[in-house]
Amino acid sequence: MTDNSTAQPVTPRIPADQLHAYVRAIWEQAGSTPREAELVADHLVAANLTGHDSHGVGMIPRYVASLADGELQLNLHADVVKDAGAVLTVEGGRGFGQVVAFEAMEQGIERAKRLGICAVGLRGAHHIGRIGHWAEQCARAGLVSFHFVNVAGDPLVAPFGGADRRIGTNPFCAAYPRPGKPPLVLDFATSTVAYGKTRVAYNQGKQVQPGALIDHEGRATLEPKVMHEAPFGSLTPFGGHKGFGLAAMCEIFGGALSGGFTTHSTTLGTTNAIINCMLSVIIDPAAFDAPDAQAEADAFIDWVKASPLAAGADRIYEPGEPERVTRAQREAEGIPVDAATWAQILAAALAVGMSAEEAGRWSARLQ
Ligand SMILES: NC(=O)c1ccc[n+]([C@@H]2O[C@H](COP(=O)([O-])OP(=O)(O)OC[C@H]3O[C@@H](n4cnc5c(N)ncnc54)[C@H](O)[C@@H]3O)[C@@H](O)[C@H]2O)c1
Repeated sequence: MTDNSTAQPVTPRIPADQLHAYVRAIWEQAGSTPREAELVADHLVAANLTGHDSHGVGMIPRYVASLADGELQLNLHADVVKDAGAVLTVEGGRGFGQVVAFEAMEQGIERAKRLGICAVGLRGAHHIGRIGHWAEQCARAGLVSFHFVNVAGDPLVAPFGGADRRIGTNPFCAAYPRPGKPPLVLDFATSTVAYGKTRVAYNQGKQVQPGALIDHEGRATLEPKVMHEAPFGSLTPFGGHKGFGLAAMCEIFGGALSGGFTTHSTTLGTTNAIINCMLSVIIDPAAFDAPDAQAEADAFIDWVKASPLAAGADRIYEPGEPERVTRAQREAEGIPVDAATWAQILAAALAVGMSAEEAGRWSARLQ
C-alpha cells in the first residue's frame, strides 16, 4: 500500500502484521528466543502504529550496533535484586528493554494489585523505547501509573541557560485507566522534540520546529544535522526552566533512586548502547476511597473538550488521543517507512546474519 496523501517521494506503507513478522525474523536471526523477538516486535511496531516512528522499527540499526559493541544482551530477564514489599529494585543487566521493562511492570502490577501501590526502580535496562507502552501495560490491568526515566550517560539536551548537552531526553509518562474507555496517556520526552524525531527529519531531509535545537555554539537552528553530524549541537529542554526541572527529576528518580546511574563526567557512554533507568509508581485506584473518581475524571475531560476552538485548531485532544487516532489510521492503511530507514534496517538484518536472499525476499514482499 502506498501513501498518496503526501508530497513526492511516496513513502511505502507496510501492513503492521507483516512489519511485525520481519522484526521478529531479524531478532530471531540475531539469537533472541521467539518470545523475546515477539516482545521486541510488539513494542517497536506499536510505537510506529501510535505515530512515534522515532521509537519504532527505525531503532533496529542502533540496537544491532549496540549488540555488535557487546552492550545489548540478548535473552536476559528482569532480576529483582531487592524486594521491600511495595518497593522493588530490578536490575536490567543491559537486557532488551522491551523484555526487562515488560517483566518489571508485570512484577509491579502484581504487587500493586495486592498492596494498593508499588514503586519499581528498574535500572540498567537497554533502551526501553516508548514509555507509554509500559503505562498502557499497567492501564490494561486497571492501574494508574507514572514513570520517570533517565537516558543514563547519553546527554543530548542543554540545561536551561546552558549551551552544550548535559542531560538525556529523559521522558516522563503518566496514565489513568478508565473502565470502558481508553486510558488517558501522557508520554513525552523532556526535550522540545525527541532525539529520534531529529533522526526521522534528518533521514527525510526536513527541518525541525523553531526553538528545538541549538548548534555547537549555542545558536538556535532548524537543521537536524546538528544532532547527527559534527560539530554537534544540542536539543533544548521543553518549557524552559520547568522542562529542565522535570528532566532533572527524571534523571535523579530514574537514575539515582533505582540504584542505577545518572549522567555526569564519569558515566558518559562511548558505545551505541542506550541505557535507561525508570522509576515507575503503580497504583490501584480501587485502594482509594474514591467511588466518584471515574465520573470526576470524565467530567473534567468533557469540560476541557467543550472549550471553544482557538484560531487554527481543529479539535481538542485528551492525553493519548493523538496516538489512538494515528493507530486507527495506520492499522487501516499500513505504517510508512521511508527509504533511508528501510535501507538501514536491511543493512542491520544482513549484519545479524540474515542471508541476502532472505532479506531480499522480505524487501520484495514488504516494499
Ligand atoms: N526510552 C527513551 O530513552 C526515550 C527518550 C525520550 C523519549 N522517549 C519516547 O519518545 C516518544 C515521543 O516523545 P515526544 O516528546 O516526541 O512526544 P510528543 O511531543 O509527541 O508528545 C506526546 C504526548 O503529548 C500528547 N499530545 C500530542 N499532541 C497533542 C495535542 N495536540 N493535544 C493534546 N495532547 C497532545 C500525546 O497524547 C502524548 O501524551 C515518547 O513515547 C517517549 O516515551 C523515549
